[in-house]
Amino acid sequence: MKILVLNGSPTKNGNTLALVNAFKEGAESKGHEVTVLNVAHKKVNGCMACEYCHGAGNGKCVQKDDMQEIYPYLTDADMITFASPIYYFTMSAQLEAVIHRFYAINQPQKAKYTALLLSSYSPGVYTAAVAQYKDMIGYMGMTDKGIVTADNSTNKTPAKLEEAKKLGASL
Ligand SMILES: Cc1cc2nc3c(=O)[nH]c(=O)nc-3n(C[C@H](O)[C@H](O)[C@H](O)COP(=O)(O)O)c2cc1C
Repeated sequence: MKILVLNGSPTKNGNTLALVNAFKEGAESKGHEVTVLNVAHKKVNGCMACEYCHGAGNGKCVQKDDMQEIYPYLTDADMITFASPIYYFTMSAQLEAVIHRFYAINQPQKAKYTALLLSSYSPGVYTAAVAQYKDMIGYMGMTDKGIVTADNSTNKTPAKLEEAKKLGASL
């Protein structure tokens, strides 16, 4: 499968990226092709709700920002993995902006599977992010392959990285 990882963490070598790299290692060990896009380092605006994409734009967003380079990866992926630090009980604004901009294509056409990787400081702060993720993939007709969460007591620990790696290797 072609697996696209949308990493919403701006932190280089941070806790979220550690989960992403472990997941990638596991998935690649089973022959999957994994592309990681560090979307927090891209310039992606929020959706303007202008509806150009659903009219004259015919599936193209009117905004000419870095989302234009992300769309081809989205439409080509068989699986999308969302990775984010928890910011105020949900995913980062940078990742949310990318998700909102799915609107132009309504949903990635090919992708059937998803996964979620979340890192936080406190434990038990995932309710909103997980609920959004589950409702969103339900709407898009995609199937969850697994969720890994890590907090301050487990971030970057060998056991947690093994869990993320195993998720990748289970695909
Ligand atoms: C703006 C901001 C908001 C945060 N909000 C939360 C929060 O609501 N709950 C929590 O447990 N951690 C929160 N954190 C901590 C991060 O989720 C945590 O440090 C995470 O491991 C960072 O991942 P990273 O290394 O990929 O940046 C917040 C951090 C920042 C910068």
